[in-house]
Amino acid sequence: MAAAGLNAKVEVPDHIPPERVIDFDMFNPPGLAEEGLHGAWKRLQSEDTPDLVWTPYNGGHWIAVRGSLVREGYSDPTRFSSQCIWIPREAGLDYEFIPIIMDPPEHTPWRQILNKVLGLKHISAFDDLIEQQAVELIDNIKDRGHCDFARDYAEIFPVRIFMILLGLPLEDGPYLKSIVDHITRPDGTVSMRDASNMLFEYLDPVIDDRWANPGEDFISVLINSEVEGRKITKPEAQRLIGLILIGGLDTVINFLGFVMMFLAENPEYRRELANNPQRIRTVVEELGRRFPIVAIARTVKKDIELDGVTLRQGEMILLPTMLDTLDDREYECPMKVDFDRRRKPNSFFGGGPHVCAGMHLARKEIIVTLQEWLKRIPEFELSDDVAPRYQSSIVSTIKGVRLAWAVESVR
Ligand code: HEM
Repeated sequence: MAAAGLNAKVEVPDHIPPERVIDFDMFNPPGLAEEGLHGAWKRLQSEDTPDLVWTPYNGGHWIAVRGSLVREGYSDPTRFSSQCIWIPREAGLDYEFIPIIMDPPEHTPWRQILNKVLGLKHISAFDDLIEQQAVELIDNIKDRGHCDFARDYAEIFPVRIFMILLGLPLEDGPYLKSIVDHITRPDGTVSMRDASNMLFEYLDPVIDDRWANPGEDFISVLINSEVEGRKITKPEAQRLIGLILIGGLDTVINFLGFVMMFLAENPEYRRELANNPQRIRTVVEELGRRFPIVAIARTVKKDIELDGVTLRQGEMILLPTMLDTLDDREYECPMKVDFDRRRKPNSFFGGGPHVCAGMHLARKEIIVTLQEWLKRIPEFELSDDVAPRYQSSIVSTIKGVRLAWAVESVR
């Protein structure tokens, strides 16, 4: 069944002031092909655009256009509920993964369970595994002199690691990734309900097995945990593991594509990192600020005043992380990558109670990729046969980043 409400335009309700209405389709923002993902979103921050706007696309929703409102949305669950976070709303209502759709206090014990496996201490135990996977993949590519970065590296590396951490067969990775893609970048061919059911069906026997024969993998630890003194039910286990599959299989991949394209096109930045690998750990934060990829929403919990307008209970407000980290009210020359920029908190990983549970794993995967890649392939450029393509969505991506390098330059 097709995805409900995707791109559909609705009538503007009477209570929305006309000066707040703009034509903006988050799945197809104007300027995407010419200016790239971030340039296209940044167009929303023109001088004459209010800080909070409403678009009739995708069922109709508000958009927080400036960093202060984006961060406010993530950090205040008393006004902005996570009950429905996916646009269009029809699909969002079928998005059942937990605990991302729960508000505190219901969310809190579930988040504690997630932290058991995704917390910094636990993730640090897998440093060697992550490094070994990166080295193996890059060593396989480096003598070729070219690659499609997504196909040959980014779509394999985080997926392999996550399948190992979950104790799932590596060969199932591409199948699961293809389902997750329908959820994070719906194209109208598979509905949220159908994609979720495919994940749940896959997980059904896996969960039975891990209940009967628990191991030390993430699935066993998570589903054998207790929530407020009781066991987790099967549907809850499916929704919980489904969520970490969505996070683990489809985020780092997309971000790395933007970073590698930037490094391919900017040799001075690339050489700075290749010559000073100790900088990579902190520079990754600036790369995150410059290349954010998530635009998730909240549901207005009760009628509220925000930026001088009334938002009605049940309306959706989109919180694009790019409109926080690329806001020139927040950062000087925000479109410029500045390795020496002073860091300040931003919403690359969200914020508030739902701040990304997988951020330690994500950071590790990104840092290791840059360290190991630049050690082996310090000089590379974009090959000019195909132009990269952007896809704007809940988790945005870039496809077709083809890299080329002289085989003599590899180490
Ligand atoms: C570059 C990589 C990543 C980015 C940009 C990212 C971004 C985000 C953002 C913005 C949120 C907040 C969603 C909200 O407030 O509604 C979030 C939540 C979450 N992320 Fe990530 N993420 C990344 C990688 C990962 C990875 C590798 C995992 C692995 C499991 C993961 C798992 C999760 C989970 C489970 C949540 C929900 C947490 C909760 O509801 O308490 N993420 N992520």
